[in-house]
Amino acid sequence: MMKVIILGADGYLGWALTLRLAKRGHEVIGVDNLYTRNAVKEVGSDSAFPLPDPEERVTAAKKYLDVNITFVKGDVKDTDFVFELIRKYKPDAVVHFAEQRSAPYSMIDVNHANYTLINNLTSTMNLIYAVKEIDPTIHILKMGTMGEFGTPNYDILETPYINVNINGKEDTIVFPRWAGSWYHWSKVYDTYNLLYANKLFGLTITDIHQGPVYGTRTEEIVHESLRTRFDFDEVWGTVVNRFCVEAVLGLPLTPYGKGGQKRGFISLEDSMQALTLLLEHPPKQGEYRQVNQIHEIYSVREIAEMVKDAAESLGLHVEIGNVPNPRFEKEEHYYNVETKILPSLGFKPKKNLREEVKGMIEDLLPYKNRLEKFKDVVWPKTDWRKGRRV
Ligand SMILES: NC(=O)c1ccc[n+]([C@@H]2O[C@H](COP(=O)([O-])OP(=O)(O)OC[C@H]3O[C@@H](n4cnc5c(N)ncnc54)[C@H](O)[C@@H]3O)[C@@H](O)[C@H]2O)c1
Repeated sequence: MMKVIILGADGYLGWALTLRLAKRGHEVIGVDNLYTRNAVKEVGSDSAFPLPDPEERVTAAKKYLDVNITFVKGDVKDTDFVFELIRKYKPDAVVHFAEQRSAPYSMIDVNHANYTLINNLTSTMNLIYAVKEIDPTIHILKMGTMGEFGTPNYDILETPYINVNINGKEDTIVFPRWAGSWYHWSKVYDTYNLLYANKLFGLTITDIHQGPVYGTRTEEIVHESLRTRFDFDEVWGTVVNRFCVEAVLGLPLTPYGKGGQKRGFISLEDSMQALTLLLEHPPKQGEYRQVNQIHEIYSVREIAEMVKDAAESLGLHVEIGNVPNPRFEKEEHYYNVETKILPSLGFKPKKNLREEVKGMIEDLLPYKNRLEKFKDVVWPKTDWRKGRRV
């Protein structure tokens, strides 16, 4: 059994992973400064499911799953706090989710852009140095994003480096990236810093590139008090989760522009399966392992159609709207992603988007009255090119 620190344990993925690892018998120390709870309220929104306080969550996990979780409130930007944490708990692995993770939030203005870059880069650097100083054998599992690569006209390979030949001279360079928001650039810079730390200090790192996650359910969420947060507004909601809430509220679904933007998706349940496999099968000491964590590739238009079908099968009336694209992105493009590492570890996806969205809508319907209060924050207001909210 492992001892694992999860940075960002109060979040959508962090809480679900806390429950998964604890249920599998690992010792889990969850850390969070509750930043997302407050930043979501800043834009006038809230989690679709009401969230118990961290202490109440820990109590509910004991009651319904019979697991003991330690929760520590703290800011991963604080260098002393991170060093003390690693020194005190001496974990086998640290999962790093504790970042500002909304692309639109990072595009609101210079303050939000700066916050994103400072929070994300500082938290990663604190972790790098704390591990290097205290125990360089600790496995760092860092959550990056598929969005680091953008939408290139070539396959996105699962390799940190690639050989190139420029004017007849060969060399190895970092696999190219072209991000589409300050948030995504912060993840690119994180990756460069982690690659450098791997070379410089020999740290053992799994760098995960994950696509947008969808879903309300995991095997451990057996009671309302164990639910993980679920965001749906234009700033914090990722596309599938947002469309499901739009369907519940009777709002038109909002694919941006032509809706031909393709992304690689994974369900919450399968994301948990993948993360557990990566932790339980760490890389060799000193290895840098880069993993693409997606299951299905769809365009935004295809997702809107699947959500519409699911909602209509439940008796809801749904229209697909026409929304001018507030983002700066290609709306029709090639997209292909190599995924070999997770299957080699035994990853077998249990969910698919078409079936899962129906369950998501069913889970959200009892919260319709709560969601009505947030109807105004679903329509896009953050304009990438203007660099402000309109
Ligand atoms: N949800 C997705 O679809 C998705 C897809 C790809 C990558 N990711 C990445 O996965 C990670 C987790 O995403 P999520 O959806 O669970 O986001 P989330 O916002 O729900 O969770 C992140 C958690 O980290 C905490 N946090 C942020 N800064 C912190 C700090 N300085 N100190 C302590 N805690 C801090 C937040 O309070 C929050 O609880 C993020 O790094 C995100 O970029 C998410």
